[in-house]
Amino acid sequence: MSPAAVALDIPVAATLRTGAIARARRARGEPVISLGLGEPEFATPPAVLEATRRALAEGFTRYSSPVGLPELRELIAGDLRCRGVLLAEPGNVVVTPGAKAAMFITLRVLLRPGDEVVLLEPCYVSYRPQVALACPGAVVRGCDLRRDDFAPDWPALAECLGPRTRVVVTNFPNNPTGRMLTPLELSRLARLVAERAPGAFVIADEVYDRLDWGGVRLSPVGAAAPVADRTITIGGLSKRCAMTGWRIGWLVAPAEVAAAAGLVQQHLNTCTCTFIQKGACAAFAAGDDGLDAYRRELDERAWVLNETARANDRLRLVPPQGGLFAFLDVSGTGLAADDFAARLLETSSVVVTPGNAFGRSWTDHIRVSLCAPTAEFRTGVSLLDRFVRGLP
Ligand SMILES: Cc1ncc(COP(=O)(O)O)c(C=O)c1O
Repeated sequence: MSPAAVALDIPVAATLRTGAIARARRARGEPVISLGLGEPEFATPPAVLEATRRALAEGFTRYSSPVGLPELRELIAGDLRCRGVLLAEPGNVVVTPGAKAAMFITLRVLLRPGDEVVLLEPCYVSYRPQVALACPGAVVRGCDLRRDDFAPDWPALAECLGPRTRVVVTNFPNNPTGRMLTPLELSRLARLVAERAPGAFVIADEVYDRLDWGGVRLSPVGAAAPVADRTITIGGLSKRCAMTGWRIGWLVAPAEVAAAAGLVQQHLNTCTCTFIQKGACAAFAAGDDGLDAYRRELDERAWVLNETARANDRLRLVPPQGGLFAFLDVSGTGLAADDFAARLLETSSVVVTPGNAFGRSWTDHIRVSLCAPTAEFRTGVSLLDRFVRGLP
C-alpha cells in the first residue's frame, strides 16, 4: 500500500519505544534494567480482582450507559469532593477507558481551529499528539518550566496566555519532573489564568494524585477558586492501583462539557468495559490500603537517585516530590540526551528516556523512572553513575 494512504503523521511515543527496547532485550535473554516506563510493579489489589470476577460471573458483560455506571460515578465524585474539587458531582463525571481517553475526549470537545493550548514543558509525551489528533487546527504553545526548580516560569507563562488561549494543561504530580505544585503556586497559577485568559479551561491531569509521597500534598486545581468552575479534572486507576492494562479513567467537568464528552464517548467507545467498571468500584471501597508502603519505596528510590546525583558533579537533580519519575540534568556530561540514553543502553544495559521526548528544548535531561524494584533500581542508578564517571 502506498504510504500516502496514511493521512496522519503521528510520532511513536518515545516512552513506549524505550519499553519495547527493554522487552526485546529481555526476550533475547540479555540483561537489562529498565528505568524507562512508568508502571507500578505491585499487583492490582485483590479486592478489585475479586469484584471483577464476580461481575463477570453475574453477567456484567453488556453495555453500560456511555457516561458510566451510576455507582462508579458516585464514588469518583465522592473521592474528589473530599479533596475540595468544586465540580465533583456524579452528573459531571464521565468514565473512560483510561485517563488518556479522558484527556483526548476533553480536547476534542473543547478545541476549535485557531484555539491555543498552553502546555507547561517538559510534559507528558501524549499531550502534543493528542491536540493534533483532536483538532489539527489548534495551536500548541509550549511554555518551559524553570530549569533550576521546575516551577512555572511566571513571566513566560503570562506571555503565553491570552484571548486565544482555550486550554491550559496542568499535571501534578508531574511526569516527567516529579514536581508538585505548592498551594501558593496553585493559587498564583489560577489567578494568572483567570486574569490573562478568562475564557480558558484548565485540564488538570491528576492521574498520579495518590502518589504525592514527598511531603507536599496534592492541591487539586479543581479546588482553586478562580478556575474551579472551568477545570476539567482527569484521573484514573492505572497508577494508584497498578491497573495500567485495565484501561479505566474518568473526567469531571462542567455540566455542558461533561454532556458533550458523553456524546463523544457514545460514538467512539459506546462505554467503558462494564465488568472493569464494577472492579473499579471495589478499588474505591478498598481505599488506599497498601499504598503507603509503595509511597515509602518511591521516596527511598528518589533518595538513592538524589544522593547519587549530589555526589557526582556532572549530574544535577531537582529532587522529585511525587509521581513515578525524576528528571535528571546530564548537561555536565557534554552528551545530548538521545546520545546519553543510547550509550547508556549500549554500555551498561540501562534504559532511560531522553528528555527531548517531553519538550523540544530539554535535550540536556533524561527521565528516570522510579518503578523498578528497589534493589534493581539501586543497581541501575549505580551503573548510570559509573557510566557518567567513565566519560572523558
Ligand atoms: C501524565 C499522564 N497522564 C495520563 C497517563 C495515561 O494514564 P492511563 O493509563 O489512565 O491512560 C499517563 C501515563 O503514563 C501519564 O503519565
